[in-house]
Amino acid sequence: MTKTDIVILAAGKGTRMRSHLPKVLHKLAGKPLLSHVLDAADAIADANKIVVTGHGAETVRGSYSDGSFSMVEQTEQLGTAHAVQCALGQLRKQAKVVILYGDVPLITPLTIAKMLAAVDEKHIALLTIKLPDPSGYGRIIRDPDDQIEAIVEQKDATAEQLQVNEVNTGVMALTTELLASWIPKIGNNNAQGEYYLTDLIALARQAGYSVAGVQPISASEVEGINSRQQLAALERAYQLQLAEQLMASGTSLADPRRFDQRGTLSAGTDNFIDVNCLFEGSVTIGSGVSIGPNCHIIDSQIGDGVEINANTVIEHSTIGDRAILGPFARIRPGTQLGSNTKVGNFVETKKAIVGNGSKINHLSYVGDAELGENVNVGAGTITCNYDGVNKHKTEIGDNSFIGSNSTLIAPLSIGKEGFVAAGSTINSEVPLGNLAVGRGKQRNIAGWKRPTKNK
Ligand code: UD1
Ligand code: CA
Repeated sequence: MTKTDIVILAAGKGTRMRSHLPKVLHKLAGKPLLSHVLDAADAIADANKIVVTGHGAETVRGSYSDGSFSMVEQTEQLGTAHAVQCALGQLRKQAKVVILYGDVPLITPLTIAKMLAAVDEKHIALLTIKLPDPSGYGRIIRDPDDQIEAIVEQKDATAEQLQVNEVNTGVMALTTELLASWIPKIGNNNAQGEYYLTDLIALARQAGYSVAGVQPISASEVEGINSRQQLAALERAYQLQLAEQLMASGTSLADPRRFDQRGTLSAGTDNFIDVNCLFEGSVTIGSGVSIGPNCHIIDSQIGDGVEINANTVIEHSTIGDRAILGPFARIRPGTQLGSNTKVGNFVETKKAIVGNGSKINHLSYVGDAELGENVNVGAGTITCNYDGVNKHKTEIGDNSFIGSNSTLIAPLSIGKEGFVAAGSTINSEVPLGNLAVGRGKQRNIAGWKRPTKNK
């Protein structure tokens, strides 16, 4: 049996979130809870995914248009067994079925695989965990031979059963055939008047099947989200896991509790990341990189030996080896900095290709521009790339020097070895090796009398 059907329950209201957004669309590490579960399911070979939606079904459907899973709607939430029943029609014959939850985001492919390995025509698998405080959870009842016999919900449990600290995580796995034979037998004669999926365990035992208990690697795998407080707590726990993975791979963190990753981050070795940095989307970092405090890096590639100083923002850009940035640099989409470049404080770049060894050290805006190698852009230089309707390009050749406080009106081309006098406004081509001076001539007026105060 190699086919796997993964049913993800996501119909609940999530009342305690106090939100108009369906609970499973709230984000953990920048990604909807449901997407975490779908991604874990994707790692299982030949897995079909079926999401059971209910509250906010339209919103959930609208958030996923790639058709990589099917959705069934549970219009009335009559309990977890009823939710699974809604998905029965979508299940493949002779498949193993795993039940997961859209609000339990950190389940790992490894644990799902362990569950599947425990299932065959005679065995069903149940994911359980021992908790110091089991309150709220269904308790696992074992027989004198230590075999799992039943699950008793908190609200239906006796005082003695409430003492049990092994609990039901809700995750179970069994064959389509067994699931389809037992689900219709589950009733709702219990404290909540709900169809409990957990009753399936006792039915399995009565029919002579055995229930294999499987445990997750980490407790965070089975933690569910019911409130914003729980979401924030799981976020910190997850971020700490990501920080630990990064450190294990050879990057030092000034404080692993003040590190945030929302997406994928791949890094070489011997990097140092100071406090409060946020990495979003897909970021790669070379080796020997140092990142100062409060940096925000989004969908970018950072080369080797790069120094990013405090409060720098880098978005959809590529940074060459040994570049030095910031403090307070803003690198906007489409920037490509060559090796050994420098982009200093209060410099904004956008769609700027900057050749090796070029420097833009202070207080500049360089947008829609292509700079050659070893160009020096003086403080306060502005590329005027926008005429109010269209964007235009500025090209600056190798070894050019742009004096401070220059205004470069695009479209504009400055030849190699060009030299722009400080304070110039330049709007026509500067030929190779020329000095361009575009400013009023200085006049000195001798014997000038200062104004005096009116009587
Ligand atoms: C359930 C288990 C309990 C276990 C706990 C772990 C049952 C009866 N109890 O309790 O043994 O310890 O999970 O967290 O299964 N859902 C639907 N449709 C429904 C009802 C629920 O999709 O009709 C979804 C909810 O969105 C939620 C999940 O199923 O994600 C669990 O439902 P909930 O009612 O919260 O079950 P618990 O009381 O937590
Ligand atoms: Ca409940």
